[in-house]
Amino acid sequence: TPDPAAQFKQQAAEYAAAFVKDGMAVGLGTGSTAKFVVAELGRRMREEGLRFCAIPTSDATEAQAREEGIPLTTFAQHPYLDLAIDGADEIEPVTLNLVKGRGGALLREKIVAAAAKQFVVVADASKYVDHLGMLCPVPVEVVPFGWESAAARLAALGAQVAPRKHANGSFYLTDEKNLIMDCIFGPITDPDALSRSIYAIVGVIEHGLFLHMATQTITAGPEGIKVLDV
Ligand code: A5P
Repeated sequence: TPDPAAQFKQQAAEYAAAFVKDGMAVGLGTGSTAKFVVAELGRRMREEGLRFCAIPTSDATEAQAREEGIPLTTFAQHPYLDLAIDGADEIEPVTLNLVKGRGGALLREKIVAAAAKQFVVVADASKYVDHLGMLCPVPVEVVPFGWESAAARLAALGAQVAPRKHANGSFYLTDEKNLIMDCIFGPITDPDALSRSIYAIVGVIEHGLFLHMATQTITAGPEGIKVLDV
């Protein structure tokens, strides 16, 4: 099925891909919008001679980067990245706080975003929310051992909790071989407090609230391109 927002995702992606300069180490995001970024960076490399190296945030993005011929690097060589570009599931426009992880790559995405001096988010304009949690659940990555206990504690924080599963009923496993609990909290008024409460649960590895991380968001919609800075 064609994605009606595809052209907006592509516009935002191409705008952000222009931020990559020669010699940069760049984090590559995951998802349908980030895919346009990787494709555009491949094009710039081939057609404009752009030279850069990258760390992908998922096995899927790594495969695409290899197909594009983008040179990959490691955190051993680049513990800090110049720039990371990634999509988001929700954007709170005043703070640039995000929900990410619908694609399940939140752990590697957060490690890459945290390592980046600049973290640029690309999305179509439908991702704006007044409060995080309004459009989608907050994914929480937990260790498989004892996951039911972590799930019960997440529920005690007020969430409706569902382990993410494939259509055939088997558990979804992340690239790091963990489970995802999709947690519906409803509109989140104090994301920093919620973040601390989730981190305090033993067995939780990471969550999809990306707070105070994005330095810029690029969105595109019927009204054109919008750039927000912190
Ligand atoms: C992947 O885990 C997610 O964080 C994605 O970045 C997010 O789901 C955005 O994906 P789309 O660009 O496909 O909406």
